Amino acid sequence: HMQHNFEGFNNLFHRFLQVKGPSVEWIKIQRPPEDSIQPYDKIAARGLPDNVANSLNKLVVVKLNGGLGTSMGCKGPKSLISVRNENTFLDLTVQQIEHLNKTYNTDVPLVLMNSFNTDEDTKKILQKYTHHRVKIHTFNQSRYPRINKESLLPVASNLNMNGQNTDGWYPPGHGDIYASFYNSGLLDQLIAQGKEYIFVSNIDNLGATVDLHILHHLVSQPNGKRCEFVMEVTDKTRADVKGGTLIQYEGKLRLLEIAQVPKAHVDEFKSVSKFKIFNTNNLWISLAAIKRLQEQKAMDLEIIVNPKTLDGGQNVIQLETAVGAAIKCFDNALGINVPRSRFLPVKTTSDLLLVMSNLYSLEAGSLTMSPKREFPTTPHVKLGSSFTKVQEYLTRFESIPDMLELDHLTVSGDVTFGKNVSLKGTVIIIANHGDRIDIPAGSMLENKIVSGNLRI
Ligand code: UTP
Repeated sequence: HMQHNFEGFNNLFHRFLQVKGPSVEWIKIQRPPEDSIQPYDKIAARGLPDNVANSLNKLVVVKLNGGLGTSMGCKGPKSLISVRNENTFLDLTVQQIEHLNKTYNTDVPLVLMNSFNTDEDTKKILQKYTHHRVKIHTFNQSRYPRINKESLLPVASNLNMNGQNTDGWYPPGHGDIYASFYNSGLLDQLIAQGKEYIFVSNIDNLGATVDLHILHHLVSQPNGKRCEFVMEVTDKTRADVKGGTLIQYEGKLRLLEIAQVPKAHVDEFKSVSKFKIFNTNNLWISLAAIKRLQEQKAMDLEIIVNPKTLDGGQNVIQLETAVGAAIKCFDNALGINVPRSRFLPVKTTSDLLLVMSNLYSLEAGSLTMSPKREFPTTPHVKLGSSFTKVQEYLTRFESIPDMLELDHLTVSGDVTFGKNVSLKGTVIIIANHGDRIDIPAGSMLENKIVSGNLRI
């Protein structure tokens, strides 16, 4: 493992030193050809065969589980945060796959890509699924040294991980999946079992369920036309300025991330009219193709330079890659424009509030928007800094408000919500510094501004 880490880092670092200038030339960017991004409805319209189980037996579900819950104020792996009725991200994933296996009498396995940050805690929890109908495998992604921004020297003074000095190391982004999966031996093992495709997604995307239509589309392509890579994309709204988009570049589909865009073109990149879709990071990838590309050493993923400041104040950079960037390496790659419901990420407690509310209902580990909501769009929720940490956020709600008719919620300052509050239309609650606002149990707030001493 050590040796793989060293080789991988060595390779990445050398490429970083060699690269001059931006990774794309703006004038060479073209709109993807008409048939390279297909509407989901067109894929689904072909229907499903009787033997769905045959396709499912070629599938492996992979969740990217290297990340921590730090941005929501949690210590351990993000996947272990409770998101709905005491279920964690991981619980929901297991329930989804177990449901699939029971329904179709299949044995779709779950693979978790852990990092050195998440491996130990995740493995402890996995024991609780022993009697579930899901075989769970794990493998670890690499551990690379952070380097000083000026000197480009590693900041770690030793290889020991158990000391205090874990600051010297980082997991190099989800693009690391290809090498780590291959090096772990698990890729070969799964190929030997007859598996053909992995469905990869962020563990914090609650909309990333196994889609039988996409799977069927993949396994039913004639030989020679086999699509080796599908990226699920979805229509961009004004709120989605950050996500990567698909472009045509040097005759191939390519992922363009905001980090690769020259400053002068950032506004153009963010615009909804020119770049209409973005990457959900739900990907379907051929196992045999990953093996081939690894053996040919043919994956040169664009390097993302991620600057960080360590607790001691030292400025470092970490070199990362993104899993979707590999699309350019695969044959017959395809974008599928999926409904927004397949992109339900929980990055903040504002996202968490939505998924905990009556806007969604939970069935066999999957969340679906309540049919009682009149508009299929989700409300815009902005909780202030007193809500950032999950623990504190939870203490501020005696129960999660009814949000079925909510369009917009902004909360700022020291605010608490009593039981059975109902929020409709646009609601803005602002407690000034030193004040506290307690929304009484049973209140109904419709198109209201509550602030300072002004009470409802
Ligand atoms: P992030 O939590 O960084 O989310 O990673 P993001 O801001 O949406 O990032 P992008 O745009 O997808 O890159 C997304 C998922 O990837 C995993 C996290 O655990 C999460 O599920 N991840 C990230 C890894 O497994 N390893 C890494 O090195 C980085």
